[in-house]
Amino acid sequence: MRMSVIGCGYLGAVHAAAMASIGHDVIGIDVDERKVAALDAGSAPFFEPQLRELLAEGRASGRLRFSSRMADAAGAQVHFLAVGTPQIPGGHAADLRYVDAAIDELLPHLRAGDVIAGKSTVPVGTAARLAARVIDSGATVVWNPEFLREGWAVHDTLTPDRLVVGAETDSAGTRAVAVLRQVYAAAVAAGTPFLVTDLATAELVKGAANAFLATKISFINAMAEIAEASGADVALLADALGHDSRIGRRYLGAGIGFGGGCLPKDIRAFAARAEELGRGEAVGFLHEVDAINLRRRERAVRLVVDALGGLVFGRRIAVLGAAFKPFSDDIRDSPALDVAVRLRGLGADVVVTDPAALDNAAAAHPQLGYARHRDDALREADAVVIVTEWDEYRRDLSPTHAGGLVRGRLIIDGRNCLDAAAWRAAGWQYHGMGRR
Ligand code: UGA
Repeated sequence: MRMSVIGCGYLGAVHAAAMASIGHDVIGIDVDERKVAALDAGSAPFFEPQLRELLAEGRASGRLRFSSRMADAAGAQVHFLAVGTPQIPGGHAADLRYVDAAIDELLPHLRAGDVIAGKSTVPVGTAARLAARVIDSGATVVWNPEFLREGWAVHDTLTPDRLVVGAETDSAGTRAVAVLRQVYAAAVAAGTPFLVTDLATAELVKGAANAFLATKISFINAMAEIAEASGADVALLADALGHDSRIGRRYLGAGIGFGGGCLPKDIRAFAARAEELGRGEAVGFLHEVDAINLRRRERAVRLVVDALGGLVFGRRIAVLGAAFKPFSDDIRDSPALDVAVRLRGLGADVVVTDPAALDNAAAAHPQLGYARHRDDALREADAVVIVTEWDEYRRDLSPTHAGGLVRGRLIIDGRNCLDAAAWRAAGWQYHGMGRR
């Protein structure tokens, strides 16, 4: 099937490459000409496992192209909308300017029967508004939210755990759903649940899913606060809770909390939309979820300051990690970098290292020190803070090796990802988050 993917960021680039890999003829459109040039040359403009291989495959097959001209989207049967919906400057709502600009530009190229399939995370009601805007073209709007995780984006796109398509129940909507079923025929044949809903429900599914995940993380981080005050161990608590299959262990990783380009801004946009709908109090708890999350960053900084005797001024601190999570170079609202910046703000001599996100971090925060190699960051450090649980730190860093490099054997495990007993046995003072 011929399709366009409008917006080639973390979501769109992967979607375009994945659609080409399952046999569709795809044109990816983005306003950023440098990004288009990189993608068209087969190189991924950001770190995402397996994406480079998929781009190369798409290029070789001739089924995947990229362009900065919206006119090149003309003739596609389905137009996937994958532009960003960041937090509005100075507010909590979603900024829909890129969604609206994409529709403005696409409008002259639409033909009757075209399907516009929204993938961006939008406030409920957006799809109906866009449908009204394109009605004269004869195109149909459906909403097909995306649940991919960065770092697992190719896997999640090719083998999703569910497909959701929201549409009107009229004949155009029914036809558009059939087109989407055809797009995802391979996954559907493999047994992936294909849920058909109205437009509003499909939009809500995405916001609700991210709100639930954020709530789960903040729940365990709230328990970490209680554990800290009572001498309990939140990691053991999470293990014990997780054995209850109604609860489950995933997303019960206590630490410095969630960040990234999705969860933080999505819970805020969700609450802001609920306010607009006069139902703000229904999701008032999301403000608490946000507050608990942000307190964890402060807590990590406090742990470092206290462990260093109350003052970090002039002390050298190795910060392991800058990305908001492993297998990503994304530093948007990264708790890891936030901790580094706060420590620097207190006068510490901070040296950050990360296997993938160093260049992004250095561009955003030139005031921090950076080391490309882990061991250079560790050398002569008075304290080590692990804030992104990359395998390079979690699995591969031996306490004995690290102990030979640092000045002080003090480690703060912001992700509760290390074997505390092993580090203590090697002579380290170990502090976890909410752990004994
Ligand atoms: C999230 C959702 O998981 C995806 O389903 C969704 O499609 C995506 O947002 C989106 O809206 O596009 P992502 O932002 O890639 O995906 O990140 P997650 O893997 O969910 O992690 C989010 C943050 O939570 C990270 O900072 C991670 O370190 C943190 N986290 C995760 C914890 O602190 N504890 C945990 O137990 C799990």
